[in-house]
Amino acid sequence: MKDYSKYFTGPSLKDAKHRGKDKVHHIDDAYEVPTDMIGIGKGQKYFIQTYGCQANERDSETLAGILETLGYDATDEIKDAQVVLLNTCAIRENAEEKVFGKIGYLKKLKRTNPNIIFGICGCMAQEEVVIKRILEKHHQVDMIFGTHNIHRLPILLKQAMLEKEMVLEVWSKEGDVIENLPSHRVHPYKAWVNIMYGCNKFCTYCIVPYTRGKERSRLSKEILEEVVSLKNEGYQEITLLGQNVNSYGKDFDNNYNFASLLEDVAKTGIPRIRFTTSHPWDFTDDMIDTIAQYGNIMPAIHLPVQSGNSEVLKRMGRRYSREQYLDLFDRIKKRIPDCTITTDIIVGFPGETDEQFEDTLSLYEHCEYDLAYTFIYSPRDGTPAAAMEDDIDIHTKEQRLYRLNDLVNEKAHMQNQKYLHQIVEVLVEGVSKKDDDMLTGYTAHQKLVNFKGNKEHIGRIVPVRIIEAKTWALKGEEIE
Ligand code: 5AD
Ligand code: SF4
Repeated sequence: MKDYSKYFTGPSLKDAKHRGKDKVHHIDDAYEVPTDMIGIGKGQKYFIQTYGCQANERDSETLAGILETLGYDATDEIKDAQVVLLNTCAIRENAEEKVFGKIGYLKKLKRTNPNIIFGICGCMAQEEVVIKRILEKHHQVDMIFGTHNIHRLPILLKQAMLEKEMVLEVWSKEGDVIENLPSHRVHPYKAWVNIMYGCNKFCTYCIVPYTRGKERSRLSKEILEEVVSLKNEGYQEITLLGQNVNSYGKDFDNNYNFASLLEDVAKTGIPRIRFTTSHPWDFTDDMIDTIAQYGNIMPAIHLPVQSGNSEVLKRMGRRYSREQYLDLFDRIKKRIPDCTITTDIIVGFPGETDEQFEDTLSLYEHCEYDLAYTFIYSPRDGTPAAAMEDDIDIHTKEQRLYRLNDLVNEKAHMQNQKYLHQIVEVLVEGVSKKDDDMLTGYTAHQKLVNFKGNKEHIGRIVPVRIIEAKTWALKGEEIE
């Protein structure tokens, strides 16, 4: 294999694990466009495919914003694009295989259009095994850059255009907070707002702390300015984003924390505020009180439990027991009785016994979640769980997933019945993709509603009477 080492910086899981005491750098002027790149994309198009979570969706908005400042226009047709970026997710093996499938397809595309610049970014770019595989087998890739290198896109693109060799720039560092990047938001009425980056939890199964660096918070001033300007532009809803929003502010030397931020964001008067994701370990009573107190903080909390068995939770490194989780769950429900709570669950974690899995089912019976995202455990290279003995066969894992999913469906259906004949407030997002005569949007409780209504009300919050409650969606009629 060719020695690429002189051309690039590649990722290192070992470096990515490091958590030092150094202060986080907040940088306002890191974004730079080389003069000869200004307008370089005029008359040309870009295509970005995003995999994974909202952090990636938000990053793709930044990538789109950067490419548009260089003159490129967006296209939904990959064949029409001169720049193609895959913003990848590393959370499970199947997410990665999907990306490799697409990389294979792009080989064909590159044969018919050799001038296309083809880039890989996002979480997979932070993994040594992935980089090795791309370098060995996928020479159609022109450019690889990591989650800490997004602001460098104009410079990397320039290198990729000039050089015949693959450009690779992946920093495995703890990370900075970089402000003032361009952005092209996908939705006109709801927006994602990053409040922090990275993760320090190091759950034993999870790759994220390695791919996204240490927990670091944006300054509240920057966040509030962003929220106020979104409100002034007419946005109805914002979602505050972080791998664990509860950790917001822990890297500051003051007592300003997530509850303080939530309160300040609520006071901006933006109609709807959501946040994701919350780790049960540091979900405080102050946070619960703030959510209860402000009508514009939506009563819908995503609270991943992962397992209902304390021993498994311990091996997952989750920092709470079944009892502690249930105590928090019950406190939230007591203070905010109508709050919808959703969760994430992993089945088949190494060593999970039938009895331990039964504990997950019994916890689910207690919590009667509105919805759950369920996964079969997937070993991630370099994480502690990947080194644990995994003695559960795939058939058993699948059976557990099916049984859990049956319960998820049953409870989702049951929870939705509560809204039958009720009047709910819906933020109208647009016309339903399946039926031109129907509008679609979400309630305060994050329930999807398809309904007959006035198309002129798209972008507004309107009252809708629910006439049918199904497992995955509600059906209704707008009240004139
Ligand atoms: N295998 C399976 N599921 C995982 N998740 C995170 N890492 C893994 C893994 N290695 C799930 C968790 C997390 C969600 C985003 O993805 O449930 O909350
Ligand atoms: Fe996937 Fe996690 Fe990266 Fe989001 S942060 S893209 S879920 S690996």
